[in-house]
Amino acid sequence: MLSEAAVYEALSAVQEPELGRDIVSLQMVKDLAIGPDSDISLTIELTTPACPLKDEIERNVRAALAGIDAGTVTITWGAMVRRASPKQAQQLVPGVKNILAVASGKGGVGKSTVSANLAVALAMEGASVGLLDADITGPNIPLMMGLEGAPAASPDGKIMPLERYGVKVISIQFFVPEGQPIVWRGPLVGGAIQQFLRDVDWGELDYLVIDLPPGTSDAQLTLAQAVPISGVLLVTTPQDVAVQDVTKALAMFRRMSVPIMGVVENMSAFICPHCGEATEIFGRGGGEAFARRNELEYFGGIPLDVRVRQGGDAGVPAVAQREPGVAADVMRGLARTIAARMSVRAAQQVPVLSIS
Ligand SMILES: Nc1ncnc2c1ncn2[C@@H]1O[C@H](COP(=O)(O)OP(=O)(O)O)[C@@H](O)[C@H]1O
Ligand SMILES: [Mg+2]
Ligand SMILES: [Zn+2]
Repeated sequence: MLSEAAVYEALSAVQEPELGRDIVSLQMVKDLAIGPDSDISLTIELTTPACPLKDEIERNVRAALAGIDAGTVTITWGAMVRRASPKQAQQLVPGVKNILAVASGKGGVGKSTVSANLAVALAMEGASVGLLDADITGPNIPLMMGLEGAPAASPDGKIMPLERYGVKVISIQFFVPEGQPIVWRGPLVGGAIQQFLRDVDWGELDYLVIDLPPGTSDAQLTLAQAVPISGVLLVTTPQDVAVQDVTKALAMFRRMSVPIMGVVENMSAFICPHCGEATEIFGRGGGEAFARRNELEYFGGIPLDVRVRQGGDAGVPAVAQREPGVAADVMRGLARTIAARMSVRAAQQVPVLSIS
């Protein structure tokens, strides 16, 4: 029968590809049990339930254990998302591990669409997710998530977020009568967002997605300072004007030392549902070129897809639709990539234990 030590030694040859360290020293191996015929059962605790590399890790684990003549190998999957949020966040929202802000230069490029779909996709992977609509003067998240109504107060006087598709949602829209315009000055916006962080009962969240307002006005400046962001996802269309504006937004975030995750291009091309032909309505390659110029990761392009627009208007995000389509597939992939990058950030904040 195999010894525990032998099993751990074999497993320590398996790398978490994203983190570049082995799964034993990362403490991802749990509940190891060895049966009489060297049957092995173990739990592998991924750094995110949305891990894109699960299959690769499984293959390598099975290969490593075959190498020491293990019997039947049973793997249970778990996930424990690690904390990447800065200190400031721990004070403001102690239960939130990662804050992802979605930003753009121009309005109408799909920031809210991407925020809603990312949040729902992460929840579908099994993560606990919140979505904060920080577009105080143009809140669209309630419509896109199919939510209306007023949040209740928790016993300790906090605001209870509304919940849909497994995502906890808060928006200023929940607090104002339908159709009434919302007029706020810049500094007040920052205050409102901080209040949404502090006074909302978010509970334990792996990811809090924040849909930021577009642009680089006063409101965004205050926000960038007020909100402890772990990473910003920049959204642009391929069009020159959108790229021009997102360049300004990038400069602002860099000036404020807010970390940037990377760039996603939305409305990349229109795929004709009849003949499958791709038409590049807003031009081509703008997002990728912008990312390259600024040494940012490019996460790819989301095509224009009528199901995305219909879903947004009907309160059913594309990723949650019964026939999701290409754009939804891209956004689900984007959610997994972002989750993986967040894991890397969190791992970088955990000091490597060295025995010397
Ligand atoms: N990939 C896409 N395909 C089709 N329609 C889209 C796509 N992305 C966004 N839209 C639509 O474009 C409009 C603007 O998107 P929105 O997310 O509100 O932009 P923003 O938040 O940047 O102002 C919405 O009606 C939305 O449904
Ligand atoms: Mg919006
Ligand atoms: Zn066609």
